[in-house]
Amino acid sequence: MTILAQLSDLHLTEDDPSRVRSLREAVTALLDLSTPPDGVVLTGDLTDHGRPTEYALLRAELDRLPMPVHPLPGNHDDVGALLAAFPAIPAANYAVTVAGVRLLCCDSTVSGQDGGELSDPEWLDAALAEEPGTPAVVAMHHPPFDIGVGWIDEMGHARPERLAAVIARHPQVVRVIAGHVHAGSVRAFAGTVATTCPSTYRQLDIDRGGRPAVLDAPPGLALHFIDGLSAVTHFRPVGGTRVPV
Ligand SMILES: [Fe+2]
Repeated sequence: MTILAQLSDLHLTEDDPSRVRSLREAVTALLDLSTPPDGVVLTGDLTDHGRPTEYALLRAELDRLPMPVHPLPGNHDDVGALLAAFPAIPAANYAVTVAGVRLLCCDSTVSGQDGGELSDPEWLDAALAEEPGTPAVVAMHHPPFDIGVGWIDEMGHARPERLAAVIARHPQVVRVIAGHVHAGSVRAFAGTVATTCPSTYRQLDIDRGGRPAVLDAPPGLALHFIDGLSAVTHFRPVGGTRVPV
């Protein structure tokens, strides 16, 4: 069993220390798990403005985690500043192996836009073809599906069929995971399961048809338990107290 933890939409900035505190609580929640995750993926909007000083805040908090951490950019990030802050990352699209599971981190950002699209389908196709027998998780910021809430979906993933065509060719993909929508959601996608992750910063209100709103709710994270080609995803609030039963 491989456990991949997912943190998303941290929106760190020195202008709002509460966001750093929320990330700190999420990191503590991961450290508090009796079976620690094998790796942590950060699915974008790590900072609010893409400033080097904001990435420095991020590095300081992530340094508490003993397991490998794999960041990718969102629309609020600056790809160059992110890569500068994480010199071990070779490029905006990169692949790593987390305890026997391949993690493919994809850049879905489009400069100057809130929405996005997969930046390099050919790279993803080739990377998945390298190890067809290894379970794979494909991660990016913009989910390749609408969540059914108009004001959120307006800043979505353009041309998701490009990603779907790649995923459909590689049945070892057990999950397509994303962030951006500050909520946990699940959908069938191209023969696999796609999910989005709660935010460590704040949750968007998915009240369909309601006015755009955020919820004053605790930070959240996702845990993906992966056993061969079988996977289960948990959405976990941060800050609860463990009470024995
Ligand atoms: Fe975003």
